[in-house]
Parts: sequence; C-alpha cells; structure tokens
Amino acid sequence: MARRREDSDVSPEVVEKFRGFLQEEYGKELYKAAEEEASLAIDFERMDKAAEDLSRMLLDKPDEFMQVAHEAVNGIDLPGPVRIRFFKLPDTLTVNVRDLRSKHIGRFISIEGTVRRASEIRPEIVAIDWKCADCDAVVRHPVKTFVSRPFRCTGVVDGKACDGKRFIELDKVMIDSRWITIEEPFELTEGEKPSQVNIWLTEDLVSQEGRRMSDPGNRLKITGVLREIPKGKEGTSKLDFFLEANHVEPTETSWERLKITKEDEEAIKKLAADPLVYDKLVDSLATSLFGLRSIKESIILQLFGGVPRKLPDGTHFRGDIHILIIGDPASGKSQLLKLVPEIVPRGRYVSGKGVTGAGLTATVTKDEQFMGGWVLEAGALVLTNKGLLAIDEFEKMSPEDQVAMHEALEQGTISIAKASIVATLPAKTSVLAGGNPKFSRFDPMRSIHEQVNIPPTLLSRFDLKFTLRDIPNAKEDKKIVEHVLKSRHEADTITPVISREIVRKYIAYAKEKCKPNLTPDVSKLLKNFYVKTRGRAEGGRSPVPITLRQFEGLMRLSEASAKIQLSDIIRKEDAERAIRLMEVSLRDLGSDMETGEIDVDKSEGGTTFSERSKIAKILTLLDELSGEKRDIVLIAKLKEVAARDKISETEVDDIIDRLKREGILFEPNPGYVQRP
Ligand SMILES: Nc1ncnc2c1ncn2[C@@H]1O[C@H](COP(=O)(O)OP(=O)(O)OP(=O)(O)O)[C@@H](O)[C@H]1O
Ligand SMILES: [Mg+2]
Ligand SMILES: [Zn+2]
Repeated sequence: MARRREDSDVSPEVVEKFRGFLQEEYGKELYKAAEEEASLAIDFERMDKAAEDLSRMLLDKPDEFMQVAHEAVNGIDLPGPVRIRFFKLPDTLTVNVRDLRSKHIGRFISIEGTVRRASEIRPEIVAIDWKCADCDAVVRHPVKTFVSRPFRCTGVVDGKACDGKRFIELDKVMIDSRWITIEEPFELTEGEKPSQVNIWLTEDLVSQEGRRMSDPGNRLKITGVLREIPKGKEGTSKLDFFLEANHVEPTETSWERLKITKEDEEAIKKLAADPLVYDKLVDSLATSLFGLRSIKESIILQLFGGVPRKLPDGTHFRGDIHILIIGDPASGKSQLLKLVPEIVPRGRYVSGKGVTGAGLTATVTKDEQFMGGWVLEAGALVLTNKGLLAIDEFEKMSPEDQVAMHEALEQGTISIAKASIVATLPAKTSVLAGGNPKFSRFDPMRSIHEQVNIPPTLLSRFDLKFTLRDIPNAKEDKKIVEHVLKSRHEADTITPVISREIVRKYIAYAKEKCKPNLTPDVSKLLKNFYVKTRGRAEGGRSPVPITLRQFEGLMRLSEASAKIQLSDIIRKEDAERAIRLMEVSLRDLGSDMETGEIDVDKSEGGTTFSERSKIAKILTLLDELSGEKRDIVLIAKLKEVAARDKISETEVDDIIDRLKREGILFEPNPGYVQRP
C-alpha cells in the first residue's frame, strides 16, 4: 500500500471492526497468505453479509477503506505482509465499460472485458521517501502524475508535531506494473465499436501467473478504483478514466449474459426436436442471398461447431470448423461474410487486406505515449477467441499474418516473440474465409489449384472449401434477380424462419449443453467413406484423394450436426450430412480437371498426378539443356523444347514459379533458370 499516506485519519472503531471480521472469517487464510507473502482475496458478498457498513465504505470511499484494511492487518500478529483484495462484487455493481461516467471516479467498482492490449511489465515509481531536514523523519509521498514534495513533515519531536517544510529525497518506491486495455464483452456489442478502458495492474497482479492471465485475448473480471487522468496535455478539460485494479480473475465466456429464459429454452428444445430444423436454419441464414445452400448448410454446422477433445497423452483436437470460399467477383461472398458474424455470439468481419492496427493475429509495437515501452496488441483472431471470424479478401492478407494463421487455425493459439515480449495468445476461433481466385475470376481452362493463391499448408487447415462461379445461366439468373428484387422491395417476404435472436441463443445453448459422442456404427460409416475415397489412390498411379485432416473434419462436422438436435450421440444422419458436404467440397476444389478424379492433393493446393508428370518432364528437359555442369538455361529455350511434349508456355511458367518457390530452381538473371 505504498501509495497511501502513512498518517492515519481513519477511525479506530472501523479498523477494529474490519480486524474482527478478518480474524473471524478469514483467520486461517490470512495466516497462510502472510506466510507466503501473498495477497488475500475477500469475498465481497461475505463481507457485505457480516458487516454491511464496511462494504458500503469500501464502495464509496475505497482509498480510506484500503487504509483501514492496511491498519487492520498491521495490528494482527502475522509472519509477513498481506495485501487485501476484494472480489465477487454483485452483478449490480458491475459497470459496463460504455457506461463509465465521472460519477464512478474514486469509487470501487467491477468491470468485465477482454484484454486487447497489454504493455510489458515495468517498474514504476509510486512514491518517494523524503527525509525531513529538521527532524530526520522519513515521509513517504505518493507520485501521481508528477513528482511533488510533501507539504509538511508528519514527524513528532518532543511530543509536538515537527511541521518542517524542507525535505531531502531519500529513496524511490518502485513497484512492478503493467497497463492493459480491455474491451467490453462481445455479448454487449452488436456491430458497433466496443468501448475500451485502461487498467493499471501492480504488484502480485503482474507476477508470472498474473502476466499470463492479463495477456491479450483473455477475458477478465476486475475490481478496483476508477481514477481520472488528464487527457492530452495542457488546456483540455476532457477527462479520461483508468481503473486501478485491486483484484483480477479470469472469467469464462458466460453465455448467461445472453439471458436464455425458460421460454427460450422451450423454444430451442422444440426446434431441436424438429427434423426440418436444418432446413429452417439454412433458410434463416443470409436470407437476402439466393441459393448457396451447401455453403449455408456448412456455415450452420460451423456455427454450432465440433467438440474439442483432449487425449490422455495430451494431444489436442480442435472443435472449430474452418470454411473457405473462393469465388468470382460479385458472387455474394462479402455479403455472406458480413451477415454470418452478426448472428453468432462473438463474431467479427474483417478484410484480410485492410485489417488495421494489430492485423489478424497480433503485433508488438512501441507506444511511448501512454503505456510506455513495448505493447502487445491482439489482432482479430485473438479478439474473437471462442467465436467466429469472417475474413474477406483472404488471399490478400499480409505474409506475416499468413504465417501466424497456420498455428491459429490448427492449434488455436498465436505465439509471438518480439522485443521484450514473448507470449502465446489464445485464438480458438472458427474462420470463415472468402477470397478471389488468382486472376480475380476463375478461368475454366486452367486447373483450380493454379488459380488459388493460398499456400497448400494453409488450405489443408480448412475443413471445407468451396468455389463460387458466376456462370451465366438464364434460368438461374432469372431466379436470382427475382429474389434480389423481392428482398429489396418486399423485405418481409424474406424474413428468416427462425429469428436471429433465437439462433444466437440456440447456438450458445447447444455449445454449452451438448457434447455428442461417436457410436461404433457411425465410426464404421465414416471409416468406410475414408477408406473408399482413399482407395482410389491405391497403387500410386492416381492422385491421393483424402487425408487425415479431412477425416478429422468429417468428425467435427458430424458432431456439429448432432449438436443441432441436441443429441448425445452422433447418429447415422449426422455422418451422412458431413459426408455429403465433404463430397461437395472435394468436387469443388479437389477434382482434377484433367482426369475427373477427386484429388485431395489438389484441393489443398498440391500437385495432381498429371501435373506431377509434367513437372518431372520439365526437370528432365532442364537437365538435358544444362548438361553436367548445371549451366544456366534460357527459359525461352526450355519452352521451345517443352512444346514438343505438349506442355504450354503458361504451364512452363507456372512450373518454374513453383520450382523456384520450393528452392529447386532459381533465376540467376532475368529470363534464365538454373539448378542450385
Ligand atoms: N446468390 C445471390 N443472391 C442474391 N444476391 C446476390 C447473390 N450473389 C451476389 N448477390 C449480390 O451481388 C452483390 C455483390 O456481392 P458481393 O459484394 O458479396 O460479392 P463478392 O463475391 O464479395 O465479390 P468480390 O469478389 O468482387 O468482392 C451484392 O449486392 C449481393 O447481394
Ligand atoms: Mg467481396
Ligand atoms: Zn520533521
């Protein structure tokens, strides 16, 4: 409590009362905390029950109350110092960040939110010990926004106050501290920019454990005293707040704040029992968009999600389902991507190209202005931890984000190490990504994988991948245009079957209550599909059609399907739904245009069998041209000889690009290639 004035002006009766409460209710814990030189967290409600006047004083005059607590503890014979902290303030005393007003300044309150930014942990001067030049007494004076001297000496000489006014600086009192910015919980925000507030954490709140807890992406409930800081420099009267934290605890995403009433629960159970619920949900999603049923159905499964599992050996399997849509311009991707996050709790829409600030993952930047030093800021994936992030223009994201995205999609974490900051942030986020093909529109003459601008390692992390093509078709076009006209002019004819409100609650409810398990019959079904599809690849002649990543995806999709009906087991129809969607996905992005086979290597940006043979051919030709000494080869010459083997110039260019990327070739001079 270095910040408090040492001269006491609190009433001894109150100190006595609090001491009594401590000894009676927290005797053992207090002693234990003192032995470990830790802090003691007191349940506010317990104190409120035992001594209402004490809890009232804490709320109204927290600084005085802390002084009381300090003196009360000092008066007890203990093996070490103990800091008193208070938690579990009732919900009525939890203030929404957006509702913070000047009336809260100087009061003890509780707030909740997700950490968005966090500074490094640094020592901060909180007080200076001054020596009185007259009587040598040491006077501790707090440092607020600037350094000031004590007004008068509080020492006592010969039974009389010294009142000296000349001081010599003796020592600075330092404590470890960290500034964080929290942003209000997502349940409270609907689209608009969430409000933020800065928090000041000190002492054991920034210990090893405290640091991990207050890293960006974590959700916290914090108690403390709201203080004001002058905003800007001179002349401005506008005040800003920060909370001086007293107690911090991690909170799980609490769906309760969505307020699922008894009636809601009834409605959800009724929907879940309806075999047509899948269609109803699809009909309630992005109603302004015509068709796209397989994609919409997949998104519905994504919203409910699979079940995250941890094996006894520590292996972790994610429950999040990731979906990628690559499509022609104006095929409805952006529209869809914007609508989906609105219906889920904790959803966001960002564009891969233009994510400002911390980008998609996380960044470390220098911030001298407020926090001082290095600041770790959470990007969109971290802020939507346990929610959904729609990423538009996915192929245009920055190379750094692309690298970090690999870890985020599979492990659900983002690791960052820069300057003095090393952290692993949580990012258990379902990703719905959309983007354009390489040449912005699909070219039916080229194979799909040539046109997808996303590295295969990243592609393979998407459970389902779809293409959207804008191919003129008179019958379809008429239907779409009619739908568009109708949705613009008779808005009520396309109202969703299930209201957005209920869909949100339904998802939250199912996620919390339902963890379906596999049965032997269904395992067999999934296994058979896997083995059969893979069987097409046997013998090494044909492409490899399906990998284990897709198999895990199938399980997640089946689980999601079961959750929609709140079923404890994964039923046959759930597995069949998953298989059907997986087949659409494999056909969309996986079929080898030249052989007509489904080829998973291709959907993951890998190489199909016919392409592999062309690459082998090019390498052979190259070696023939360059000879023993591996001379440089003119690309034009290579194209000339390749043409004899019916490999086109664009194909040669693509193959060279690819071999360069893989380090098999390099370009010593423009127009030439060479083997390293
Ligand atoms: N299936 C559809 N039903 C109704 N409207 C559609 C459909 N597809 C596209 N549209 C309309 O076309 C317009 C363009 O769609 P959108 O902006 O979502 O395209 P996009 O796929 O993101 O294109 P780009 O690749 O150029 O970003 C939107 O106004 C959208 O409502
Ligand atoms: Mg778009
Ligand atoms: Zn003095």
